[in-house]
This record gives sequence, C-alpha cells and structure tokens, in this order.
Amino acid sequence: MDKLRITGGRALHGEVMISGAKNAALPELCATLLTADPVTLTNVPRLRDVATMRHLLDNMGVKTVTHGERGGMTLHAADPINPEAPYELVKTMRASVLVLGPLLARFGRARVSLPGGCAIGSRPVDQHIKGMQAMGAEIVVEHGYMVAQLPGGKKRLRGARIATDMVTVTGTENFLMAAALAEGETLLENAAQEPEIADLAEMLIAMGAKIEGHGTSRIHIQGVERLHGCTHQVVADRIEAGTFLCAVAATGGDVVLRHGRADHLEAVIDKLVEAGAKIEAGKDTGGDFIRVRASGRLKAQSFRTTEYPGFPTDMQAQFMALNCISHGMAKVTETIFENRFMHVNEMIRLGARIQTDGKVAVVEGIEKLSGATVMATDLRASASLVIAGLVAEGDTIVDRIYHLDRGYDQMEKKLRGIGADIERIK
Ligand code: EPZ
Repeated sequence: MDKLRITGGRALHGEVMISGAKNAALPELCATLLTADPVTLTNVPRLRDVATMRHLLDNMGVKTVTHGERGGMTLHAADPINPEAPYELVKTMRASVLVLGPLLARFGRARVSLPGGCAIGSRPVDQHIKGMQAMGAEIVVEHGYMVAQLPGGKKRLRGARIATDMVTVTGTENFLMAAALAEGETLLENAAQEPEIADLAEMLIAMGAKIEGHGTSRIHIQGVERLHGCTHQVVADRIEAGTFLCAVAATGGDVVLRHGRADHLEAVIDKLVEAGAKIEAGKDTGGDFIRVRASGRLKAQSFRTTEYPGFPTDMQAQFMALNCISHGMAKVTETIFENRFMHVNEMIRLGARIQTDGKVAVVEGIEKLSGATVMATDLRASASLVIAGLVAEGDTIVDRIYHLDRGYDQMEKKLRGIGADIERIK
C-alpha cells in the first residue's frame, strides 16, 4: 500500500490549481442515466471515487469516452441499461446510492446494494427510501439490496412533497434527479443547500429539467417527459480549496488557489481570518482565485460543524490539525457524523494535545509536533495528517493513503509544486 513521506517545516509559496469537486462530479455522473442522449462533463477530477463511479456505470452498460487532460468525458446511457448496482462496487463507495433516483425515474425499476457501514458513522439511507416511496416507488430490502419498482405497470414516478427528518446531501440529490422525470410537481423541504447541489441542478436544467430554489432549503421541480444531452463543467472543489487554505495557514507562506471559490467557503475563511491568516479572493483573467498568506503561529479557533452554509464537517479534521499548533485552546464540536474523530489518536502520536468526549474535542495548541508514522482512517482524516506532517519536526509517514486518493487529485504533486518536501512511497 502506498504511503506518503513528509519532512515538515517548510513554508509554502506559489500557485495551486483547484480541481473539480468530487461531491458534484459523483451525482452528475449518475445524472447521465436520466437520458438516452450523450452528456459531456468537463473539469471532472481524477479521483479513485470517480473511477469507481465510472466502473459502476460501465457495468450497467453506459458507454464513456474521455477527452484528454482537462478531465472531459462524454457518457452515453443509451438503451439497454441494466439497472443494477452490485455490492462489490457499492461497498467501496456509499455515493453509489445516487443511481437509485435516476434508475427509478427513467427505467421504473432498480436493484441497488445497501452501502453498509462507514468509518465516520452508521450513515443509513432510510430517507432516500422514504423519499422514493413518497414518489410512488415500492422498495423492499432483501439480501442486502434495495429492490425498487413502480407498481401496477406504472411508467413514471409521481411528484410529491418530501420533507426529510434531517438535511441530507445525497438524499436531496437523489430526489432532484428522480423528480426531474416524474409526473407533476415535487417540493423538497429541509433540502440541503450545498454548492454541489446547486451545480447538479444547473446541469439538470441544461438537460431540460424545470427546477427552482436550488441552493435554498425549498426546491420546486416540475417533472418533464424526457431529458436531453448537455455539456456541463463540474464546479470547483471547495473542500480541496479549504484543505490547502488550512495547510498554508499551518505552515506559513503565500499561495494562490486558482479556480478556488471563496463564496463557497465563507464559514471556513471567516475562521481562518479570525485565526490571523490574510485571505483575498477575486476573479482575474485566469478565473476565480483565493490568495492566502500566513506567518507564525495563529490563534486557535473553536467551531461547530453544521450543514451548509455553516462550517463543513468535511473540513473539521483539517482545521483541527491547524489548531494543534496554534496559540490557545479550541473546542471542536462535530454534529453531523457520530464517529468523525478517528484522526485524533493519530495526531496524538505526533505529539498533539487533544481530549475528546462524545461530539466534542478540546485541542490545546502547542509549539511543535514531532514526525512519526501515522495511519489514515478516512478521506478527510488523511488530509489532516498530511497537514500535520507538513508542520511536524522531522519525517512523518502517512500510511493507507488510498483514502486520500479517493478525494484528492494528485495532492502530493500539488504540494511539491508549492515547496513541500513530500513524496509517495510505492
Ligand atoms: C455527503 O454525504 C458527502 N458525500 C459527505 O462527504 C459529507 O460529509 C456529507 O454529505 C455531509 O456534508 C457526498 O456528497 C458524496 P448526508 P451524505 O446524507 O449525503 C444522516 C467527503 O468527505 N442520514 O448529508 O452521505 C447521516 O447519517 C464525504 O467527501 C440519515 O440518518 O451525508 C448523517 O448523520 C464524507 N439517513 C446526516 O444525516 C439518511 O437517509 C447527514 O448525512 C441520510 C442521512
């Protein structure tokens, strides 16, 4: 298994290209199932999760053609499509549940493996099932699969009012895609407002869908008979951008994040500015950018993860790494997932002072971490250990970086490009 060797202590300088967003690309790849026409996606990040999703679609009969370096690809879900998502693929990536809505909406049936457990929490899909049932689907869970179909030979889902018990990102995305081809109007209440959802809605609208209110907690969808092909550019990855902002804030330096969208990262940027980092953002001939400058130890920041536009849970671990070497104490409260402090014990191996109690972690900032071998346990935990390694004295070895490759497009190459001493050990 690949590892990363990092020698800490270097400030970072230069420019980094922010890739397309994993959490937009995954639902948008699934949305290509909604039409028999070819759909072109550009700015698709080169990630293991994207490769897994392509494998899943390929397994159903979707034909894909890739177009060179800039991450463009054309997907063609022409008939026949086998509406099945097997356990072997779903178990490696929970986002596979995002095929449920499109398959039911276009083919009236689907057999999708339940995702099973996850390192960061139980993560059930009960709301997804509840929403599809509200739109008229019959769903039974048997032999580890959700077996879904439309009763009485019905051809289309029907519009419905769906109000979920909690805000769910992929749930909202599944309902958006299903409702786009349903008969009548659908109203999503308590909908997730993440930028990736608004980006998916923009793609569906380009395919002919009728959607209003995306990016708010109430979304209206007027179903249409048929959707057509389109070309859509995947939005920039705000979590990748946030990860680099925390890395530079921790190491010190001056870095421009090309294509970074500050308007999608306000909660994180507010905390970084309070900590003492200098952040500028704008648009120039090269497009959107965020510039971050920092030097010396910053002030530790307490925060609480919530749904967008609040502080993202996917940035919790990375910001905790920054707090480990900042001045003062910080209280970190994780409200979205019940088991998302797996990185804490690994950071303690690097000398960090952290105490956890249920949803709360209290971090006491110290002068210096000391390099050691640590193990990645999930995607964002692995990114936080890379940040910790960039500031630790001596060498840090991060093991099991297959977690990192799931959601970061060539992170060590990008870090080396701005001066980090980091390499992949095969
Ligand atoms: C999405 O996961 C993201 N994944 C996650 O990013 C992110 O952490 C999460 O949203 C929250 O922002 C993708 O977009 C592919 P949820 P999702 O449904 O949709 C509970 C990363 O690092 N819930 O919004 O699976 C659930 O257990 C990943 O890139 C139910 O109980 O998350 C959780 O506590 C990790 N029943 C809460 O709701 C349901 O049916 C929010 O989960 C659905 C969710």
